[in-house]
Amino acid sequence: MKSSRRDTPTPDPISSRRSFLKQTALAGSSLLFLSASSRGSGAEPARSEGTDATAPTNDTLKTIRSLRTIHGNFLDQPLPEPALQAILRASVRAAGASNNQSYAIIVVKDRKMMADLCGYRGSCLLLYCADYNRMKASAAALGYAYEPGTVVDFVTASINTLLAAQTAVIAAKSLGIDSLLTNGIHRGDMDRLWKLLDLPQTHCFPMIALVLGYPTEEPPHQKGRLEGVGVIHHDKYHRLTREEVEEINRQYDDKDRHIALVEDWAAQGYQHYLDWYFKAWVGRNNRPGAEETQMLRLLKRSGFVELQKG
Ligand SMILES: Cc1cc2nc3c(=O)[nH]c(=O)nc-3n(C[C@H](O)[C@H](O)[C@H](O)COP(=O)(O)O)c2cc1C
Repeated sequence: MKSSRRDTPTPDPISSRRSFLKQTALAGSSLLFLSASSRGSGAEPARSEGTDATAPTNDTLKTIRSLRTIHGNFLDQPLPEPALQAILRASVRAAGASNNQSYAIIVVKDRKMMADLCGYRGSCLLLYCADYNRMKASAAALGYAYEPGTVVDFVTASINTLLAAQTAVIAAKSLGIDSLLTNGIHRGDMDRLWKLLDLPQTHCFPMIALVLGYPTEEPPHQKGRLEGVGVIHHDKYHRLTREEVEEINRQYDDKDRHIALVEDWAAQGYQHYLDWYFKAWVGRNNRPGAEETQMLRLLKRSGFVELQKG
């Protein structure tokens, strides 16, 4: 059975990562996502470095541990409205600096619109934007001129926005609803987001799309994670020794850990997974700088990132 990641029509402007994946799949065959076979019982858990039988567990931790991304192969099936409302209410419970909720969540249910926005379709898409326009309106109503135009404002709003998005991911999973976080919105002509959604030109910036839904098939494996030295630092930052770096690189190469983005890097002729990652994946953009130039232009237009003095 083909994955819908391959079958889902890809809007032209958003093609860089996905067309790369297609080419890679055609050239080297079995990408993890493309080789998924149906397993009703869920993705096989990744082998974990720190499995500890005495570690506490509960339903919340089980939900978080069971998280895995569905890479686009969602059923064409709407979400129950009460579930969507519960996810949104949970999402806005995330902590936020000064409790100012400097974000806007745009709920999109039209499947063509979802694809136009991010290249993927599911039951529903939540577009998380860093946004101060609501705060600005409140300020203006009271006669204040509020211009959150610094890098600090942007970073703060970004943190608030992304915490809300990840909280929605966990809430959805707890209700049996799967998800894909995607920055597909940042591929292609990003001005389309402002046009399609009538976004305010200033103080509003789309950060991430969250596609919610039900998978047509399970991924065969849960992706693993590095979870020890180099990721978790105790008391102060730990500079890795050569041996520790080699051990980390071995973990990337360990096929049972499933940390790699693709499974067939060796068949593609790479000695190590990270050879594939740094040569084929990181270097896949054949127009280096184009995305950065566009992002910087739009960040400046948004009024968030004015050139700082000094
Ligand atoms: C910022 C961000 C952007 C992502 N963009 C995509 C994407 O465009 N397409 C996709 O299939 N997965 C995307 N993902 C999902 C990651 O590939 C996935 O989280 C990662 O491989 C780990 O897999 P897991 O979530 O199943 O554990 C994105 C995740 C994040 C956080």
